[in-house]
Amino acid sequence: MAWHLSVQVDRDSVVPLTAQLQNAIKDMVEDRVLHPGARLPSSRQLAQDLGLSRSVVVEAYEQLIAEGYLDAVRGSGTHVTRQLPAGAGEASLLDPRPAPEARWDLRVGIANLSNFPRQEWLTSYTKVLQNVGRDGVDYPPVAGIAELRNELAGYLGRVRSVRTEPGNIMVTAGFAQGLALLCSSFQHQGIHELAIEEPGHNGQRRFILDTGMRPVPVPVDEEGLIVEALARTGARAVLVTPAHQFPTGVTLSPARRQELLRWARETDGWVIEDDYDGEFWFDHQARPAALQEGDPERVVYAGTTSKVLVPGLRLGWLAIPPRMFPLMERVRSRQDQGSDTLTQLAFADLMRGGLLDRHLRRVRSRYRSRSEALAAAVREHLPDARLNGSAAGLHSYALLPPGTDEAALVQGALRRSVLVRGGQQFRFGGPPGRPGLLLGYGSLPLTGISEAVAAIGAAYEELKRG
Ligand SMILES: Cc1ncc(COP(=O)(O)O)c(C=O)c1O
Repeated sequence: MAWHLSVQVDRDSVVPLTAQLQNAIKDMVEDRVLHPGARLPSSRQLAQDLGLSRSVVVEAYEQLIAEGYLDAVRGSGTHVTRQLPAGAGEASLLDPRPAPEARWDLRVGIANLSNFPRQEWLTSYTKVLQNVGRDGVDYPPVAGIAELRNELAGYLGRVRSVRTEPGNIMVTAGFAQGLALLCSSFQHQGIHELAIEEPGHNGQRRFILDTGMRPVPVPVDEEGLIVEALARTGARAVLVTPAHQFPTGVTLSPARRQELLRWARETDGWVIEDDYDGEFWFDHQARPAALQEGDPERVVYAGTTSKVLVPGLRLGWLAIPPRMFPLMERVRSRQDQGSDTLTQLAFADLMRGGLLDRHLRRVRSRYRSRSEALAAAVREHLPDARLNGSAAGLHSYALLPPGTDEAALVQGALRRSVLVRGGQQFRFGGPPGRPGLLLGYGSLPLTGISEAVAAIGAAYEELKRG
């Protein structure tokens, strides 16, 4: 019986064919396109169907068997496993939860409630409740209430050099909703591929896939996204984190910025700038302006309160190129009826009264001391590692010597009650990068940083001794 499998590989991609095939099958299993127990074609058959060498398929199958996605039964071929590996199929933007118990949690995206300015929020929210009129409790405009869009336009210009008008701002439920709306609007324009950075945010990659777009990984180096590689993909839209690349921490170099903006002009393409932690730049002089400043007609700027305040508010914003705005409004009005008005009014009040600026100054200095403490702890306890990229945001990326067994180090750290993610978790099947660790310090007390890094250092020394 010649079982058929409908997968595609791209010979011009920088991603090796084995990795492409592996990812495609993994996605089909996780998305339940391939059901548990489904039979796959033989490696010989699939190689022939796809015009690939058989060794490419054999290697992909072997890797998927090792990862627990497929089973090979002698005499009855290769099947999708009946029990998927833990964590498979998480169609979430978040790191899988629940996580193992650990004293120190260095994962990124962990909310730090103690940084939430409760008193200020309470004051603004109470003021709103006392003064809100009929308009404030009726359905809001889908793009957001005027008060907040006005405040945001001023704030984004002042703090991030974004060039926009209140009428081009859309308030969203965090970047997650912004991304979903953008993916819909691209598809309305006949764009079905969205280039993403690799390494990058695996949750976002799956999220994009679930919107019906094809995420196309493009490698990142010390200068940020490799624009030449982007151009080779043929994609017309790209999602980037130019100020502080997620997860490597590098900043898109001035030359690459220009190249990327040129690419957008020449391909009539779109750039989404995910400025998730742009407010937390510790060296004020070095802070790069938003990429959007270079071409407000082609760059969609995205911001969020998830790092600035807390993710639970589910509040974000897009500064949208004027010619894309009407489509985004149409797409939005078909999906929901706008964001919670009272939260929007309270946040506008927080901004208007200067309370947000004051809060930002306070937490920025808190995060700066954590970033410095982490750098000092790495120098002391993990001297073979090198911190990569810019001192900004709520995480650092430590590069480890080539050949370090990253997975064993992560396990060793967990045995010492430190939960940390290895760089491989942020790869999508492209060539394995240099081993590394993503060290989130946003929710750690200052005193915990040295203890956590010391535990990782001890795990590293144990690994080195063999
Ligand atoms: C790379 C990146 N972009 C954006 C966000 C924010 O997403 P949201 O606004 O939906 O919470 C996060 C998470 O905090 C992130 O890690």
